[in-house]
Amino acid sequence: MAASSRFSLAAARCSLRLLTAALVLLALSHGAHSHGAALSSSFYDGSCPGTRDIVRRVIQDARVADARIPASLIRLHFHDCFVNGCDGSLLLNDDLRVGITTEKNVLANNRSARGFNVVDDIKRALENACPGIVSCADILALAAEISVELAGGPSWSVPLGRRDATTTTNIESANNLPSPFDPLKTLQEKFRNLGLDDTDLVALQGAHTFGRTQCQFTQRNCTAGQRAGALLNLDGVTPDVLDNKYYGSLLQGRAQLPSDQVMLSDPSQRQPPRRSSAGSPVTRMTFLETSRRRWSRWGT
Ligand code: HEM
Repeated sequence: MAASSRFSLAAARCSLRLLTAALVLLALSHGAHSHGAALSSSFYDGSCPGTRDIVRRVIQDARVADARIPASLIRLHFHDCFVNGCDGSLLLNDDLRVGITTEKNVLANNRSARGFNVVDDIKRALENACPGIVSCADILALAAEISVELAGGPSWSVPLGRRDATTTTNIESANNLPSPFDPLKTLQEKFRNLGLDDTDLVALQGAHTFGRTQCQFTQRNCTAGQRAGALLNLDGVTPDVLDNKYYGSLLQGRAQLPSDQVMLSDPSQRQPPRRSSAGSPVTRMTFLETSRRRWSRWGT
């Protein structure tokens, strides 16, 4: 990894830790399929003013029964945006007559991506309030934004105004979603292909500060005797809270996913984050602004 990743890991460990998921959302919010005008957080203010409240209410209700839902919804947004921009294509079901091969069945999603029922509930509630207005791609983006906030992260007004895909044009790219067993170089390359650099990679992985993983994807690979599919917390300290604990585990070699731990696999990466952990000159705003500029490139 280049020097930029040293910066971002150090930054993430310091005062900027809580920002990680907001940065994720910022990165993912610039979909390729806008309505022609620039995306804007006030896009539905005139046409469907209750949009944010409706999305929030459905997620809050779902979360009562399933504390993992905010994490699952963020992951859906990432997997949607990774394939051809944030266009809701992840939500399409198989329909070969109209050229749809669902992304739901690719390796990274099948029996893994979840929360689709909550997205359906959100869509239903929005259709009742303002039929045909809010796109599914925006629902995923909003669900991710609100999930961050509900999990204790920063609040963020995600830009809106994406259009939905009506076909899947890029199933190869869905097959290329990052694997927990990808070596560092492959992860870097997959992110670089989206215009994301090492700094982005480290920050985005910080979303693993909450949610669950099946044990066969972890460094220990179910060796504690669990059956495949058994769930483990991605963050063993605060499993449902969006906070900085993930980075501490990472630096102790205890990240659950090999693809997370591999970020420190380059020996040149091990010392600088520790040395700089006492404090960073980079302020919260500096990092935010840097990220805003960098990530606005993606998908626009
Ligand atoms: C860098 C490459 C990445 C890899 C290899 C990776 C891999 C994984 C894997 C294997 C799981 C567990 C899935 C399961 O057990 O079924 C997982 C869960 C999760 N991932 Fe990632 N991920 C990556 C990046 C990201 C990014 C960028 C985000 C967010 C923007 C994200 C958010 C999450 C969340 C929140 C969960 C928990 C989901 C839940 O509990 O339902 N991941 N990831």
